[in-house]
Parts: sequence; C-alpha cells; structure tokens
Amino acid sequence: MTQRIRKAVFPVAGLGTRFLPATKTVPKEMLPIVDRPLIQYAVDEAIEAGCDTLVFITNRYKHAVADYFDKAYELEQKLEKAGKFEQLEVVRHVLPQGVQAVFVTQAEALGLGHAVLCARAVIGDEPFAVLLPDDLIWNRNGDGALKQMADHAQAHGVGAIAVQDVPREQTASYGIVETEGFQDRSGAIRRMVEKPKPEDAPSTLAVVGRYILPGVIFEHLEKTGRGAGGEIQLTDAIASLLADHQVDAYRFRGTRFDCGTHIGLVEATIRFALDHEKISDAARDSMATALRELGVTDVS
Ligand code: UTP
Repeated sequence: MTQRIRKAVFPVAGLGTRFLPATKTVPKEMLPIVDRPLIQYAVDEAIEAGCDTLVFITNRYKHAVADYFDKAYELEQKLEKAGKFEQLEVVRHVLPQGVQAVFVTQAEALGLGHAVLCARAVIGDEPFAVLLPDDLIWNRNGDGALKQMADHAQAHGVGAIAVQDVPREQTASYGIVETEGFQDRSGAIRRMVEKPKPEDAPSTLAVVGRYILPGVIFEHLEKTGRGAGGEIQLTDAIASLLADHQVDAYRFRGTRFDCGTHIGLVEATIRFALDHEKISDAARDSMATALRELGVTDVS
C-alpha cells in the first residue's frame, strides 16, 4: 500500500446520546470549540494529509453538517456588502478549492463498521482514511496526526491505526492493541482487544479515531456479522484483515481530546481558548477569576 491516500471518511451518523439535550437538534460534530465546529478540525487534518475527497456518512438528522459545507450565497453577499472581508474569507475557506465533499446516508445506525461500509461505492479499492471527529488531535507546531500516519503508511506500504499510551487502570475504556516489536512510534498489530481489564490488557496502547486502511477492508466488513451491542464493528473487520495485511499501530505526536465526553469537550475548549490569537489573555483572566471566585486555591 505505497499509494498515497486521497479520500477520507467521516462517520457522523451516530446518535450522540452523551450530549443530549444539546444534540437533540444540533449534531455533535457541529458543537463548537471556540469558533469552529468539531468537524472542521478533523476536515482540516484530512486536507493537510493530502485528501481531496471527503466522504461524510450522515443520516436524516444531520442536515446541518451538509449545510455547513455547502456554499452560503446569501451570507457571502451580505458579508461582502457590509465590508466584512475577514469573516467572508473564513466562510469561504470552510472547504478549500479543489476539495470535494460527498454525502452518503446511513439509513440505520448499525455501527461504525457499517458506517464505513456505506462509503464503499465512493472509495472503490484504494487505501483511504477514517477520522472520528470526536477525537480532536492537536499538534501545535507540527504535522497533524493523519499526515504523520499517511507518511508512515506510504513509506512502509502498510495500513495504520492511531494509538496513544493510556494509564493501565484505564484500559477498560479503550480498544487495546498487541503489537510485534513496537519501536519508537510504531509496530505491526497482532491483535486488538476491546476494553480489556487492566490485568488482561496486552499493552497500554489505546486505539484513537484515526485509521488508514486498504480498500480490501470492505470485503472484510461485508463478511463481518453483528458483534458487540448488535452493531457491525470496525474492529472485527480489522481483526480479520490482519490475517493477510500488515496494519501498524502508530503513536502520533500531539494531544488528543476525547470530545465525545463532556470533560473532553471542555478540556479542548480551554486549551484552544488559551492558545487563541484573539482571546488567549481574556481566557486566562477569566479562568483565574473563576477559580478565585469558587475558592479553588490548589490548582496543582
Ligand atoms: P460513538 O460510539 O461515539 O456513538 O460513535 P455516538 O452516537 O456518536 O455518541 P454517543 O455514544 O451516543 O454519545 C463513534 C463514531 O461512529 C459514528 C459516530 O457518529 C461517531 O463518529 N457512528 C456510530 C456512525 O456513523 N454510525 C453508527 O451507526 C454508529
């Protein structure tokens, strides 16, 4: 698989139950981190990695995602008339020129594996990326996580799955990989274990929502029956793929925020606010004031 990835799949057809009631009308992927929706961070990461075709797996409740990537003629005209050129540029560059968005409907939420399978007709048999926008990965001054993985996958002719080191007591919250000779940042995956107890975990390398997979994964997904929770699991198809394809665990450089949880979304918001060119000072002052008013003195 020395071919460079050009297509990225964003499965966004989940129900987002952890953020109800907000997600009753606003898709989870449209929740903002400061001034940009979650999905924009993942899209920018895919484009930076070289992708020019973005495939969104949506459902009938997620029109806001398609609307967001559509051209907003009226808004653009109004901004232009009002001389708000900075905002006009921001709106126009949600998707840069030469990048196309494709929307595929997942009629029933049958799981992440099923969502990826829905992209088959668009992807064909070439290698592609899967990004879960809930996992926001921030690498302040360096390459994004997907670009790091794409470089690795292309150089070594392998698939790749992003992993991060987690404390052993947290393994039961993650998919954990067992690798062969993990060195520096990567190692070939031997098997993946879903949510093992700390004492059973084969390592402390946890799967994060970035994958680079060969097109043949669709054949494995076709054969994958319903697994845990009655859903078609991407992990099960990857386990089957491992029999004849090398897929590496890749420990990316950067910080990952799990924005599928309340605390992860708050952490990402704080981090991006503190680093924001316009509001960083105000954000720091506001946090100091909040801690003082709440009587929090120990912030170690
Ligand atoms: P999650 O397990 O986080 O589920 O899905 P969710 O519905 O988004 O959120 P909660 O747990 O109810 O709060 C992981 C990813 O897989 C996508 C989701 O949109 C998310 O990006 N997904 C999941 C689908 O696209 N289709 C599915 O059938 C299931």
